[in-house]
Amino acid sequence: MTFAVKIKDGKVLKGAVIGYGFISGKGHIPSYLDRARKSGDVKIVAVADICEERRKLAAKALPEAKIYSDYQSLLKAESAVLDFVDISTPPCDHAKIAKAAMDAGLHVLCEKPLTTTLEEARDLLNHAVQSKRVLFPAHNYKHAPVVKTIREIIQSGKIGEVRNVALSTYRNTHAKGVTEWNTNWRRDFKYSGGGIAMDHGSHSFYLTFEWLGAYPTAITAKMTNQEPQKYDTEDNFSTVVTFPTGLANCNLTWTAGVRKVIYAIQGTKGAITVDDDDMQVAIQEKTDGPDVAQGAIRWNVEKTMISSDWMDASHVTWFNALFDQFKTAIETDDYAGKEAKEAYRCVEMITKAYESARNGCKEEKLLGI
Ligand SMILES: NC(=O)c1ccc[n+]([C@@H]2O[C@H](COP(=O)([O-])OP(=O)(O)OC[C@H]3O[C@@H](n4cnc5c(N)ncnc54)[C@H](O)[C@@H]3O)[C@@H](O)[C@H]2O)c1
Repeated sequence: MTFAVKIKDGKVLKGAVIGYGFISGKGHIPSYLDRARKSGDVKIVAVADICEERRKLAAKALPEAKIYSDYQSLLKAESAVLDFVDISTPPCDHAKIAKAAMDAGLHVLCEKPLTTTLEEARDLLNHAVQSKRVLFPAHNYKHAPVVKTIREIIQSGKIGEVRNVALSTYRNTHAKGVTEWNTNWRRDFKYSGGGIAMDHGSHSFYLTFEWLGAYPTAITAKMTNQEPQKYDTEDNFSTVVTFPTGLANCNLTWTAGVRKVIYAIQGTKGAITVDDDDMQVAIQEKTDGPDVAQGAIRWNVEKTMISSDWMDASHVTWFNALFDQFKTAIETDDYAGKEAKEAYRCVEMITKAYESARNGCKEEKLLGI
């Protein structure tokens, strides 16, 4: 089967959004509308949502779009005019929607986690290559301003080789979906495939790849659920990941009473600490003192503030740069490229971490792709 390469001749990329919930309603669609106004290279022409109230809201937000009650009828009616689908449903449906979209000749931008099982993730990557359609995950934390600054500092060599990273993500509740549908789906395994590790693990893990400049080889984890009578997914998760270059420590909690990220990136010459928008960069300076206590090392500390909109869970301001990446992948026929492979690795880490936690924290090997 051959598909027209519509984007290369400068046409507008036409997309359909599957799932008009929190992330698409507050994040993706406002960003598409803004982009359509500014550069005119994208237009959302259709939306599918299984919830009638959400369909009504979608029709208000996008009066020109065609609205469908399921992705199958959308694909059947619209695939001839579409270039891509944006999958913004809960994770349990990502794999089947992505596969059907690629079969209909469409590129796929998919929210994280790519899938809830490793088999599905592998199948999707293979399918992308076979069908010559781009599979691209919404790894949007890479585009947070403070994360971009961390990237620049590491690349400058200022902190040396990164050997240890710690990522703590604090939340004051489990992330909630829109009230019109099933607001607590993240605490229900059949929709989410897991708790906070399945929900947020990808964001922490793909950042560790970048910061440690490598892919991991092993993982161990522990997890707890403070409300087991009510929910069947974990609300606290802690993992140690082994890399050829060092170690990563990732803590995720939905019961912290605060919304915040704290990242620590430690290299051979210095360290970066991020507390939401506040960044401290400490560079080691050798002095003449005989030992640390007597001044053998002095830390030269710089503090800055990089406004990154952490409190806005839709991360609407980070989406445009992610879409640029997706567009480039389409233009360069990068069907299952670096980002898709990293999404696969994230699913491997999440699922192996669950195995480790179920087996008394046993270290699990990561085979990668
Ligand atoms: N990258 C990020 O920063 C970020 C932030 C929030 C959510 N997300 C991801 O976005 C996805 C959706 O999360 P959300 O918070 O928007 O959830 P949500 O519950 O607010 O929205 C989900 C929407 O999908 C609809 N839906 C459910 N199953 C469907 C199906 N099979 N076909 C069509 N519509 C369907 C529901 O009716 C609802 O309107 C998840 O994968 C989540 O992990 C990512």
